[in-house]
Amino acid sequence: MPRRPGFVCESCSYRTAKWLGRCPECDSWDTIRESMDSTSPDSTVDNVVTQAFTEIDTPVEDRIPTGLDEFDRVLGGGLVRGSAVLVGGEPGIGKSTLLLQAAAALSRRGLPVLYASGEESISQIRLRGQRLGVSSADLHVMCESRVEAIEVAIGQVHPTVVIADSIQTLRSAESSGIPGSVQQVRHSAGRLVDNAKERGHVLVLVGHVTKDGAIAGPRTLEHLVDCVLQFEGDRRREHRLLRGLKNRFGPTDELGVYRMAASGLAEVSNPSERFLSERTTGTAGSVVMAAVEGQRALLVEVQALVGEARPGLPRRTALGVDAGRLAMILAVLERSARISLSDRDVFVNVTGGLSLKDPASDLAVAAALVSSVSDRPLPDDAVLFGEIGLTGELRDVPQVELRLKEAARMGFRQAILPAVSTGGSPPSDIHCVHCERIGDALKTLRPAVVDQIG
Ligand code: TYD
Ligand code: MG
Repeated sequence: MPRRPGFVCESCSYRTAKWLGRCPECDSWDTIRESMDSTSPDSTVDNVVTQAFTEIDTPVEDRIPTGLDEFDRVLGGGLVRGSAVLVGGEPGIGKSTLLLQAAAALSRRGLPVLYASGEESISQIRLRGQRLGVSSADLHVMCESRVEAIEVAIGQVHPTVVIADSIQTLRSAESSGIPGSVQQVRHSAGRLVDNAKERGHVLVLVGHVTKDGAIAGPRTLEHLVDCVLQFEGDRRREHRLLRGLKNRFGPTDELGVYRMAASGLAEVSNPSERFLSERTTGTAGSVVMAAVEGQRALLVEVQALVGEARPGLPRRTALGVDAGRLAMILAVLERSARISLSDRDVFVNVTGGLSLKDPASDLAVAAALVSSVSDRPLPDDAVLFGEIGLTGELRDVPQVELRLKEAARMGFRQAILPAVSTGGSPPSDIHCVHCERIGDALKTLRPAVVDQIG
């Protein structure tokens, strides 16, 4: 009988393929020990194989582009055979739509796809598919949440890609947990992942997450899969962002931009144009920032509103920027630029539903706040980017040249950026103002507004 190495929790008998410091099942620390399968007759190890690093064959990644460019960009070029991908997102954000479109594009090229849904009926899927223009005999649909049944279907269809929508509905007779429980989700997903590795197809798992990322699910599965993508956005707005959070076969932090239309998700090939399309120029509190997400520069509008607060109750609302960074920026403005907003309400918003992870947004947030509090608009043709340090210094950010090129392409004529930036060869049609400190940047933008700054 073959021996199966693995790790077992001494406290709750949870099994895992990898060593973990804390048991994800019972949360005990340092209880996971290496073990051989208990059915194995011999427990002594006498013969192990190691391989010289230089003699290991370089694996050939067999990539299958889905045919949806933005999806492929985030995946790093396409789906990798034998790998497992988890697509997480809030209910209703468009995960099923995206994957049905990907399934349609793959099957149109003659690649068999199995789409197993535990959430919708066959007729619902058919209606949705018709709306999306799906028509291919290579797309096999089943309404099924039993893992064992999905495995049988895989044996019949021999799919290149298997989509399980969603992990919250999956169940396996081998696990006693109810569907949706951590135990059941992990067991069922684990079985499908093992199956994909053995047979060499791609497994795409769909998982619902709530706003705080909790609820039995995707987060607990991240170690099981090779790639974790997050689909995000505001359900009431049209933009959707597909973000790579983990990728064993490609870049992380890559961003794909979509728009939800009546006929499904449409790719947004020029996101800067989209994000700036509703911008009203000449208004106080609005600033354009050149952000970098993954390998791509995006221009986005950062808005701030500073208002009178009720005594003792100043509000701080950050949408699309980190609340901790906003607090830091307010403290630095007070200390380094002598602009105190401690008794004011402060709201910051990134338009288009984008959530900026780039610390280079600090300078844009600070400038938008100052513009709002002084009720003076900043120049329409300026973009800003730079990280703010605790002493008020502007710190260098990566990909300066990429940001400047995008700004120039979109018609901006001046850029305010950190002094230390070494931008490669910036485009000649944009004037760069390098500033050492936050105060210098604000003065450059609007001397009259900040004449009180020392
Ligand atoms: P869905 O893919 O069902 O979300 P999820 O699987 O993440 O729960 O998307 C649901 C929303 O998308 C739904 O509110 C309707 C909308 N939608 C469109 O606007 N256009 C379309 O073509 C489709 C298929 C859905
Ligand atoms: Mg769905």
